[in-house]
Amino acid sequence: MTQTVEIFEVGPRDGLQNEKRLIPTAEKVALVDLLSQAGFRRIEVASFVSPKWVPQMADGAEVLAGIRRRAGVRYAALAPNLRGYEGARAARADEVAVFASASEGFSRANLNCSVDESIARFEPILAAAGADGIPVRGYISCVTDCPFDGPTDPAAVARLARRLRAMGCYEISLGDTIGHATPESIAAMLKAVMDEVPADRLAGHYHDTAGRACDNIEASLALGLRVFDAAVGGLGGCPYAPGAAGNVATEAAQARIEALGYATGLDRAMIAEAGAMARKMRETQ
Ligand code: HMG
Ligand code: MG
Repeated sequence: MTQTVEIFEVGPRDGLQNEKRLIPTAEKVALVDLLSQAGFRRIEVASFVSPKWVPQMADGAEVLAGIRRRAGVRYAALAPNLRGYEGARAARADEVAVFASASEGFSRANLNCSVDESIARFEPILAAAGADGIPVRGYISCVTDCPFDGPTDPAAVARLARRLRAMGCYEISLGDTIGHATPESIAAMLKAVMDEVPADRLAGHYHDTAGRACDNIEASLALGLRVFDAAVGGLGGCPYAPGAAGNVATEAAQARIEALGYATGLDRAMIAEAGAMARKMRETQ
Protein backbone atom coordinates (compact mmCIF):
# COMPACT_ATOMS: atom_id res chain seq x y z
CA MET A 1 0.00 0.00 0.00
CA THR A 2 1.24 3.48 -0.85
CA GLN A 3 2.49 5.30 2.20
CA THR A 4 1.23 8.79 2.89
CA VAL A 5 3.40 11.83 3.54
CA GLU A 6 1.80 15.00 4.82
CA ILE A 7 2.82 18.44 3.61
CA PHE A 8 2.00 21.09 6.20
CA GLU A 9 1.42 24.31 4.28
CA VAL A 10 3.11 27.26 6.00
CA GLY A 11 3.03 29.75 3.11
CA PRO A 12 0.48 32.20 4.52
CA ARG A 13 2.70 32.55 7.64
CA ASP A 14 6.34 31.69 6.93
CA GLY A 15 5.98 32.52 3.24
CA LEU A 16 4.47 35.95 3.71
CA GLN A 17 6.00 37.16 6.98
CA ASN A 18 9.13 38.44 5.27
CA GLU A 19 7.41 40.34 2.45
CA LYS A 20 8.14 44.04 2.60
CA ARG A 21 4.87 45.24 1.08
CA LEU A 22 2.07 45.06 3.64
CA ILE A 23 -0.20 42.57 1.92
CA PRO A 24 -3.89 43.42 2.30
CA THR A 25 -5.82 41.01 4.55
CA ALA A 26 -8.19 40.16 1.68
CA GLU A 27 -5.26 38.84 -0.40
CA LYS A 28 -4.09 36.63 2.48
CA VAL A 29 -7.63 35.34 2.97
CA ALA A 30 -7.93 34.55 -0.75
CA LEU A 31 -4.68 32.57 -0.63
CA VAL A 32 -5.77 30.56 2.42
CA ASP A 33 -9.17 29.87 0.85
CA LEU A 34 -7.48 28.50 -2.25
CA LEU A 35 -5.10 26.38 -0.17
CA SER A 36 -8.07 25.05 1.81
CA GLN A 37 -9.31 23.38 -1.38
CA ALA A 38 -5.98 21.73 -2.21
CA GLY A 39 -6.13 18.84 0.25
CA PHE A 40 -3.97 20.08 3.16
CA ARG A 41 -4.93 18.93 6.63
CA ARG A 42 -2.99 21.74 8.33
CA ILE A 43 -2.32 25.28 7.14
CA GLU A 44 -0.38 27.86 9.16
CA VAL A 45 -2.11 31.17 8.55
CA ALA A 46 -1.00 33.71 11.17
CA SER A 47 1.39 34.80 13.92
CA PHE A 48 0.36 36.46 17.15
CA VAL A 49 3.71 38.16 17.71
CA SER A 50 4.66 41.77 18.32
CA PRO A 51 3.48 43.86 15.33
CA LYS A 52 6.61 45.95 15.80
CA TRP A 53 8.75 42.87 15.23
CA VAL A 54 6.78 41.43 12.31
CA PRO A 55 4.40 44.06 10.87
CA GLN A 56 3.25 41.73 8.08
CA MET A 57 1.56 39.42 10.61
CA ALA A 58 -0.31 42.17 12.49
CA ASP A 59 -3.67 41.21 10.95
CA GLY A 60 -3.70 37.57 12.12
CA ALA A 61 -7.06 37.89 13.87
CA GLU A 62 -8.63 39.40 10.74
CA VAL A 63 -7.19 36.65 8.55
CA LEU A 64 -8.60 33.95 10.81
CA ALA A 65 -11.96 35.76 10.91
CA GLY A 66 -12.07 36.16 7.12
CA ILE A 67 -11.22 32.68 5.86
CA ARG A 68 -13.78 30.07 4.87
CA ARG A 69 -12.95 27.20 7.18
CA ARG A 70 -13.10 23.88 5.48
CA ALA A 71 -14.03 20.80 7.50
CA GLY A 72 -11.03 18.59 8.15
CA VAL A 73 -8.48 21.42 7.84
CA ARG A 74 -6.73 22.77 10.94
CA TYR A 75 -5.73 26.42 10.82
CA ALA A 76 -2.60 27.12 12.87
CA ALA A 77 -0.98 30.22 14.34
CA LEU A 78 2.37 31.04 15.98
CA ALA A 79 2.50 32.30 19.57
CA PRO A 80 5.73 33.39 21.34
CA ASN A 81 4.13 34.07 24.73
CA LEU A 82 0.86 33.79 26.64
CA ARG A 83 -0.42 37.01 25.13
CA GLY A 84 0.10 35.56 21.66
CA TYR A 85 -1.64 32.35 22.69
CA GLU A 86 -4.64 34.28 23.99
CA GLY A 87 -4.84 36.19 20.71
CA ALA A 88 -4.70 32.94 18.73
CA ARG A 89 -7.37 31.32 20.88
CA ALA A 90 -9.66 34.36 20.64
CA ALA A 91 -9.26 34.22 16.85
CA ARG A 92 -10.21 30.53 16.94
CA ALA A 93 -6.93 29.08 15.73
CA ASP A 94 -7.31 25.29 15.72
CA GLU A 95 -3.76 24.82 16.91
CA VAL A 96 -0.85 27.00 17.94
CA ALA A 97 2.90 26.70 17.55
CA VAL A 98 5.60 27.80 19.95
CA PHE A 99 9.04 28.42 18.49
CA ALA A 100 12.42 28.01 20.11
CA SER A 101 15.95 27.93 18.75
CA ALA A 102 18.65 25.31 19.19
CA SER A 103 21.17 28.17 19.23
CA GLU A 104 21.37 31.08 21.66
CA GLY A 105 22.31 33.62 18.97
CA PHE A 106 19.12 33.12 16.96
CA SER A 107 16.98 32.93 20.11
CA ARG A 108 18.18 36.43 21.05
CA ALA A 109 17.67 37.78 17.54
CA ASN A 110 14.22 36.28 17.04
CA LEU A 111 12.69 36.32 20.52
CA ASN A 112 14.91 38.75 22.42
CA CYS A 113 15.60 36.17 25.12
CA SER A 114 17.70 33.09 25.87
CA VAL A 115 16.54 29.59 24.97
CA ASP A 116 15.69 28.87 28.63
CA GLU A 117 13.70 32.09 28.89
CA SER A 118 11.76 31.21 25.75
CA ILE A 119 10.86 27.82 27.24
CA ALA A 120 9.69 29.56 30.42
CA ARG A 121 7.37 31.71 28.29
CA PHE A 122 5.98 28.60 26.58
CA GLU A 123 5.08 26.82 29.83
CA PRO A 124 1.93 28.89 30.51
CA ILE A 125 0.95 28.44 26.84
CA LEU A 126 1.12 24.65 27.15
CA ALA A 127 -0.80 24.78 30.44
CA ALA A 128 -3.57 26.98 29.00
CA ALA A 129 -3.75 25.08 25.72
CA GLY A 130 -3.97 21.79 27.61
CA ALA A 131 -6.94 23.12 29.56
CA ASP A 132 -8.53 24.52 26.37
CA GLY A 133 -7.95 21.34 24.35
CA ILE A 134 -5.86 23.17 21.73
CA PRO A 135 -2.92 21.19 20.28
CA VAL A 136 0.50 22.86 20.43
CA ARG A 137 3.26 22.25 17.93
CA GLY A 138 6.87 23.07 18.78
CA TYR A 139 9.37 24.51 16.31
CA ILE A 140 13.10 24.27 16.73
CA SER A 141 15.08 26.68 14.56
CA CYS A 142 18.70 26.45 13.44
CA VAL A 143 18.80 22.66 13.73
CA THR A 144 22.03 22.39 11.76
CA ASP A 145 23.33 25.94 11.31
CA CYS A 146 22.80 29.31 12.99
CA PRO A 147 23.48 32.64 11.24
CA PHE A 148 25.10 33.92 14.46
CA ASP A 149 26.64 30.90 16.21
CA GLY A 150 27.71 28.71 13.27
CA PRO A 151 27.12 24.94 13.15
CA THR A 152 24.64 23.54 15.70
CA ASP A 153 25.48 20.53 17.86
CA PRO A 154 22.90 17.77 17.13
CA ALA A 155 22.85 17.03 20.88
CA ALA A 156 21.48 20.54 21.56
CA VAL A 157 18.61 19.90 19.12
CA ALA A 158 17.91 16.53 20.73
CA ARG A 159 17.80 18.06 24.23
CA LEU A 160 15.43 20.80 23.14
CA ALA A 161 13.20 18.36 21.25
CA ARG A 162 12.93 16.23 24.38
CA ARG A 163 12.01 19.30 26.47
CA LEU A 164 9.33 20.44 24.05
CA ARG A 165 7.83 16.95 23.88
CA ALA A 166 7.91 16.63 27.68
CA MET A 167 6.05 19.97 27.92
CA GLY A 168 3.29 18.55 25.73
CA CYS A 169 4.05 19.62 22.15
CA TYR A 170 2.36 17.01 19.98
CA GLU A 171 4.89 17.37 17.15
CA ILE A 172 8.33 18.94 16.82
CA SER A 173 9.12 20.71 13.57
CA LEU A 174 12.84 20.86 12.89
CA GLY A 175 13.83 24.07 11.11
CA ASP A 176 16.78 24.55 8.81
CA THR A 177 16.11 28.26 9.20
CA ILE A 178 18.81 29.55 6.84
CA GLY A 179 18.76 26.69 4.35
CA HIS A 180 22.39 25.67 4.81
CA ALA A 181 21.74 22.03 5.74
CA THR A 182 22.89 19.09 3.64
CA PRO A 183 21.50 15.55 3.62
CA GLU A 184 24.52 14.57 5.76
CA SER A 185 24.01 17.25 8.42
CA ILE A 186 20.25 16.61 8.45
CA ALA A 187 20.82 12.86 8.93
CA ALA A 188 23.30 13.45 11.78
CA MET A 189 20.87 15.81 13.48
CA LEU A 190 17.89 13.48 13.01
CA LYS A 191 19.75 10.48 14.37
CA ALA A 192 20.47 12.41 17.58
CA VAL A 193 16.90 13.71 17.85
CA MET A 194 15.37 10.30 17.22
CA ASP A 195 17.15 8.96 20.32
CA GLU A 196 14.78 11.28 22.22
CA VAL A 197 11.65 11.69 20.08
CA PRO A 198 10.24 9.11 17.64
CA ALA A 199 10.07 9.92 13.93
CA ASP A 200 6.27 9.96 13.94
CA ARG A 201 6.39 13.02 16.24
CA LEU A 202 8.82 14.96 14.04
CA ALA A 203 8.46 17.17 10.99
CA GLY A 204 11.08 18.63 8.64
CA HIS A 205 10.96 22.38 8.00
CA TYR A 206 13.59 23.16 5.43
CA HIS A 207 14.37 26.47 3.80
CA ASP A 208 15.82 26.28 0.32
CA THR A 209 18.60 28.88 0.25
CA ALA A 210 21.17 26.47 -1.19
CA GLY A 211 18.71 24.44 -3.26
CA ARG A 212 19.12 21.35 -1.06
CA ALA A 213 15.72 21.31 0.67
CA CYS A 214 14.27 18.48 -1.46
CA ASP A 215 17.43 16.43 -0.92
CA ASN A 216 17.06 17.07 2.80
CA ILE A 217 13.44 15.91 2.63
CA GLU A 218 14.60 12.76 0.86
CA ALA A 219 17.22 12.08 3.55
CA SER A 220 14.58 12.61 6.24
CA LEU A 221 12.11 10.28 4.51
CA ALA A 222 14.77 7.58 4.54
CA LEU A 223 15.01 7.99 8.32
CA GLY A 224 11.25 7.72 8.79
CA LEU A 225 9.89 11.29 8.84
CA ARG A 226 6.47 11.63 7.22
CA VAL A 227 5.58 15.32 7.72
CA PHE A 228 7.23 18.24 5.93
CA ASP A 229 6.51 21.97 6.04
CA ALA A 230 6.46 23.86 2.75
CA ALA A 231 5.24 27.14 1.28
CA VAL A 232 3.48 27.51 -2.07
CA GLY A 233 5.57 29.40 -4.57
CA GLY A 234 8.66 28.93 -2.36
CA LEU A 235 8.07 32.26 -0.67
CA GLY A 236 9.47 33.15 2.67
CA GLY A 237 12.33 33.62 5.03
CA CYS A 238 12.68 34.84 8.56
CA PRO A 239 13.19 38.58 9.09
CA TYR A 240 15.55 37.80 12.00
CA ALA A 241 17.70 35.24 10.17
CA PRO A 242 20.06 37.09 7.82
CA GLY A 243 20.37 35.30 4.49
CA ALA A 244 17.37 33.04 5.01
CA ALA A 245 15.56 32.41 1.74
CA GLY A 246 12.17 30.88 1.18
CA ASN A 247 10.76 27.64 2.46
CA VAL A 248 10.95 24.71 0.13
CA ALA A 249 8.20 25.27 -2.46
CA THR A 250 5.17 23.07 -1.87
CA GLU A 251 5.17 22.29 -5.60
CA ALA A 252 8.77 21.00 -5.46
CA ALA A 253 8.28 19.09 -2.21
CA GLN A 254 5.16 17.39 -3.57
CA ALA A 255 6.92 16.46 -6.81
CA ARG A 256 9.91 14.95 -5.00
CA ILE A 257 7.83 13.10 -2.40
CA GLU A 258 5.48 11.64 -5.02
CA ALA A 259 8.41 10.71 -7.31
CA LEU A 260 9.74 8.65 -4.41
CA GLY A 261 6.49 6.68 -4.37
CA TYR A 262 4.57 8.34 -1.52
CA ALA A 263 1.10 9.84 -1.71
CA THR A 264 0.49 13.44 -0.55
CA GLY A 265 -3.22 13.65 -1.30
CA LEU A 266 -2.71 17.12 -2.72
CA ASP A 267 -4.35 18.47 -5.86
CA ARG A 268 -1.56 19.62 -8.16
CA ALA A 269 -3.74 22.00 -10.17
CA MET A 270 -4.96 23.77 -7.02
CA ILE A 271 -1.41 23.98 -5.68
CA ALA A 272 -0.22 25.47 -8.96
CA GLU A 273 -3.01 28.05 -8.82
CA ALA A 274 -2.15 28.93 -5.21
CA GLY A 275 1.56 29.11 -6.11
CA ALA A 276 0.80 31.54 -8.93
CA MET A 277 -1.29 33.64 -6.55
CA ALA A 278 1.49 33.66 -3.93
CA ARG A 279 4.15 34.66 -6.46
CA LYS A 280 1.91 37.46 -7.75
CA MET A 281 1.57 38.75 -4.18
CA ARG A 282 5.34 39.11 -4.13
CA GLU A 283 5.60 40.62 -7.63
CA THR A 284 3.05 43.31 -6.78
CA GLN A 285 5.62 44.88 -4.41
P1 HMG B 1 10.31 42.02 23.47
O1 HMG B 1 10.51 43.38 22.88
O2 HMG B 1 11.45 41.41 24.16
O3 HMG B 1 9.11 41.91 24.49
O4 HMG B 1 9.76 41.09 22.32
P2 HMG B 1 8.15 42.88 25.20
O5 HMG B 1 7.37 42.03 26.12
O6 HMG B 1 8.92 44.06 25.75
O7 HMG B 1 7.15 43.38 24.04
C1 HMG B 1 7.50 44.34 23.07
C2 HMG B 1 6.25 44.93 22.49
O8 HMG B 1 5.50 43.92 21.84
C3 HMG B 1 5.33 45.50 23.56
O9 HMG B 1 4.61 46.54 22.95
C4 HMG B 1 4.40 44.34 23.84
O10 HMG B 1 3.17 44.77 24.36
C5 HMG B 1 4.23 43.73 22.48
P3 HMG B 1 4.95 48.09 23.27
O11 HMG B 1 4.81 48.23 24.75
O12 HMG B 1 6.37 48.29 22.79
O13 HMG B 1 3.93 48.82 22.45
N1 HMG B 1 3.93 42.30 22.49
C6 HMG B 1 3.02 41.72 21.72
N2 HMG B 1 2.16 42.24 20.81
C7 HMG B 1 1.33 41.37 20.18
N3 HMG B 1 1.35 40.03 20.40
C8 HMG B 1 2.20 39.50 21.29
C9 HMG B 1 3.07 40.35 21.99
N4 HMG B 1 4.02 40.15 22.92
C10 HMG B 1 4.54 41.35 23.22
N5 HMG B 1 2.20 38.18 21.49
C11 HMG B 1 8.62 39.16 21.46
C12 HMG B 1 9.51 39.71 22.56
C13 HMG B 1 8.57 37.65 21.63
C14 HMG B 1 7.22 39.77 21.62
C15 HMG B 1 9.22 39.55 20.10
O14 HMG B 1 10.57 39.17 20.10
C16 HMG B 1 8.52 38.90 18.94
O15 HMG B 1 7.37 39.19 18.66
N6 HMG B 1 9.22 38.01 18.21
C17 HMG B 1 8.62 37.23 17.13
C18 HMG B 1 9.57 37.15 15.99
C19 HMG B 1 8.93 36.33 14.87
O16 HMG B 1 7.73 36.26 14.74
N7 HMG B 1 9.81 35.73 14.02
C20 HMG B 1 9.35 34.96 12.90
C21 HMG B 1 8.70 33.67 13.26
S1 HMG B 1 9.85 32.40 13.74
C22 HMG B 1 10.37 31.70 12.24
O17 HMG B 1 10.08 32.21 11.19
C23 HMG B 1 11.13 30.39 12.30
C24 HMG B 1 10.27 29.18 11.91
O18 HMG B 1 9.71 29.34 10.61
C25 HMG B 1 11.09 27.89 11.96
C26 HMG B 1 12.40 28.01 11.17
O19 HMG B 1 12.36 28.28 9.95
O20 HMG B 1 13.44 27.82 11.80
C27 HMG B 1 9.08 29.01 12.91
MG1 MG C 1 10.74 28.92 8.75
